[in-house]
This record gives sequence, C-alpha cells and structure tokens, in this order.
Amino acid sequence: MPVLSPTNSPIVAAYVAKTPGSAALHARASEVLPSGIAHDSRHTDPYPIYTARAAGARKWDVDGNMLVDFYGGHGSHLLGHCPPQVMAAAQAQLMQGTQFGSCHALEVEWAGLVQSLVPCAERVRFTSSGTEATHMALRLARAFTGRRKVVRFLRHFHGWHDHMAFGVDNHFDGTASPGVLPELAAEVVLLPPNDIAAVTRCFEGDDDIAALILEPTGASTGMIPTAPGFLAALRAACTAHGVVLIFDEVVTGFRVSPGGAQGEAGVMPDLCTLAKILAGGLPGGAVAGRRNIVDWLDFEVSAEKSREKIKHQGTYNANPVSAAAGIETLRLIQAGGVCERATAAAQAMKCAFNQVLAEEGVPWAVYGEHSVIHFFTNPQGLAVDPMSWTPDGQQDVLMAGEPRTGLMKKLYLALLVAGMDPKGARGAILSAAHGEAEIGEATESWRQALRMLKDEGELRH
Ligand SMILES: Cc1ncc(COP(=O)(O)O)c(C=O)c1O
Repeated sequence: MPVLSPTNSPIVAAYVAKTPGSAALHARASEVLPSGIAHDSRHTDPYPIYTARAAGARKWDVDGNMLVDFYGGHGSHLLGHCPPQVMAAAQAQLMQGTQFGSCHALEVEWAGLVQSLVPCAERVRFTSSGTEATHMALRLARAFTGRRKVVRFLRHFHGWHDHMAFGVDNHFDGTASPGVLPELAAEVVLLPPNDIAAVTRCFEGDDDIAALILEPTGASTGMIPTAPGFLAALRAACTAHGVVLIFDEVVTGFRVSPGGAQGEAGVMPDLCTLAKILAGGLPGGAVAGRRNIVDWLDFEVSAEKSREKIKHQGTYNANPVSAAAGIETLRLIQAGGVCERATAAAQAMKCAFNQVLAEEGVPWAVYGEHSVIHFFTNPQGLAVDPMSWTPDGQQDVLMAGEPRTGLMKKLYLALLVAGMDPKGARGAILSAAHGEAEIGEATESWRQALRMLKDEGELRH
C-alpha cells in the first residue's frame, strides 16, 4: 500500500484511525484492481474511502462516518443524491426491463427534452458516457469537414479516449501518453486557453482543422476560467474558417443554466457533448447539435447524399433506466429554480470559506462561478487577500497548478477527517440539495482542516 511521506503525520494518523473499514477493503481491492481503484481521480494516499450510501448532500462511508459531499457523483447530481422523483422513475423502469435491445418510448421523450433545453440541439445521439460523446463529436466533425485535425486547449478535460489522453495534467507538449499512437497525437493541436490570436494563427496556417473543442467555462469547469468574450471570438473564428465548434458540456450542461453554458453565454456551438446530469446520476451521454452535422449518423440522409454514414453502436446507448432517471431530472430542471439554488449555495460557501481563510490568516482564496468552486492554494506565495482575490490576470499561475503534492494530499485527507468530501482537494461541486446546514458544517470542516495543516507546519510559505 502506498504511504504518504512523512508517515508520522497526525493528519494521516487521524484518517487511518477513522477509516479501518476502508483500509481493509482497499487491501482486498489492491489484489484485483490496479491501485485498488476504478477511476484515476480516486487514487488516494494511503487509500481512498469506501462509500456505503448517500442521500441529498451527504454520504456515509463503510465505517459509518458521515461526510458532506462535494463531489456530487463527479458532478452528476445537481439534485443531490437519490432525489425521490428520480429514484421512483428509475425503480419503476428497472422492473419493466433494463435493456430491450430495441427502441423504446423513453429515448424519444429524453431526446425531446434535450432538444427543448439545449440551444444547439437540433439533433441528439445518445452514448453511454461523456468520453464516448466527445469521441463521437470529433468523428462527426471530421466526417462533416473532410479534415483531419482537432484543436484543444491545455488543461481542458474531455475524457480519456486517445485524442484526449494528454495535455490535461501532463504531456503539455502534445506528445502521446502511454498506449496512445503518436500519429494520432500529432493530429491534435494543443493551444493555451483564452488566446484568440493563437487560435486565429493556427486556423490561418492550417486548412486541415476539423474541430475545436473546449470546456466552455474553462478547464475543470472554470478552474482556469474562460475570459469574457472568448467564446464569442471562437465562434467567429470557427465560422470564418469552417471549423466545427464543440462545447464540451459534460459538466456544465443543465448545471450552469438549464441550457448549459451555451444557454447562459448566448453563444451557439455547432455541437455539444452531454453526460452526467443528463442521465440523472446513471450512466449516459449524448452528442447534440446541428442537424446537417449529426445527420452523418442518419441512414436515410446518407443514402440520399450518396455517402457512407458514420458508424455508431453501443449496447447501453439510451439505456431505459438511465433514460427514466434523465427524464425526471431534466423535467425538474426545466421547471426552474434548480440551477439557481445550486449556484446560490456554492456562492454562499465561497464567501464563507474565504471568510475563514481571512480569519485564519491563510493567503489562499476560493473562487468560481455557478455551482462549482475552486481552491486557490497559492503555490507561489503571492500576497493574497481571500476576500478580494480573483482569478483575473492569474492564468499563468493557475496553469502552473499546485506542485506541492504532499500539501494537496494532506488537505484532502484533513477535509475528509473533518467531515467533508471535496472535489479531490481542488474545490467543491454543489447541488440544489446543499442547504445552510451543510454549508455551515462544511465551513467548520474547512476551518478544522486548515488548523490541522497549520499544526503540521504545512501552511508556511
Ligand atoms: C468536461 C468533461 N468532459 C468529458 C468527461 C468524460 O465523461 P465520462 O467520465 O462520462 O466519460 C468529463 C468527466 O468528468 C468531463 O468533466
């Protein structure tokens, strides 16, 4: 089992003392699962927690510890865990059948809801995950334009398929990570975010660019925020050069507003990718967008145009149980107030956390728009007033990341010990189920964690 250094850390000791059941499960898991896990983000030194159940804004681990949850099923739970209407719909469908191997009424209703909520969604094709959705979006763009290359932004995350498995947290030079073909990586152009001049230069110098894909609110849902006007400038540049503009709305879709980031910004992409909230916390994804692009999947249109269609299968595409959960979730979002409640909760927590930082004399800051907030841990020791700091003009610092992995590991463990499960020590994802009680408890967890770090001498610059 990996061991955090130094091993005499009281934070690690407190974590280990509280989580014997998770330790035992992880020991067994490590015999069968690489690193004992099923998703890279769960890799935790010395071991991750194992969750037994969740409800609303809270979860309980196998040792009975209650945590206020700020990972929200990787952002899928805008309504919190197990919202009764969504669970009832999923349970009812479960008893009717989980996989028909045929079309069903729910997929029609589900697609209709996507169409009515998401501005660019003239046509919708369901996939089983966000990764599959971004993969399909690129294939559509290549088929539609007849071009080869894709432009992405450094640190923007779009899942794990071969086009996306570099340039997020390493391989910033665009070289392939293990198992990815260098020839394929060579077809992906990585650019710095928010640099419209770099985009224009790239488009002008290369007529083989099929698509530009980005997280519309910025890398990691706004950790490196998109600058005002950048989306509109990208829209204009893509239109001018015949490049397909893809908003990856896997997290922002139905969260930032019922119509996602595109709905809020008033900038229409050609395609967008959706997942997470789309399927109400069950597996599912979709690519949606302009009819003349998505129709590359259409048998009849392709025959009419005498072209070969794009291939797409997928056993669990538009799975009926996911569809039932997704429909209820989207209906509740469509009724109004959900996105606003989650955003209000996140903004209240941001203020409360910054107040604690100021009171504790810690030169960090919590920032972020909508319902996802981020912790700026100030690796360069800048003069930071938590109450007034903004990420504006700080792109270079944010792009550099937080190199003190020991500090981040301890911050994460300290927050777990203190009763909250953050988004991997880097921030928090909130939901409409986060109320004053949860925010109050989390604020005390934040204070306790900072004090634990201070006691270990981790907050000296
Ligand atoms: C912006 C973004 N795109 C794509 C993905 C990949 O989605 P999935 O995990 O469903 O494959 C994620 C996952 O977190 C994401 O945050």
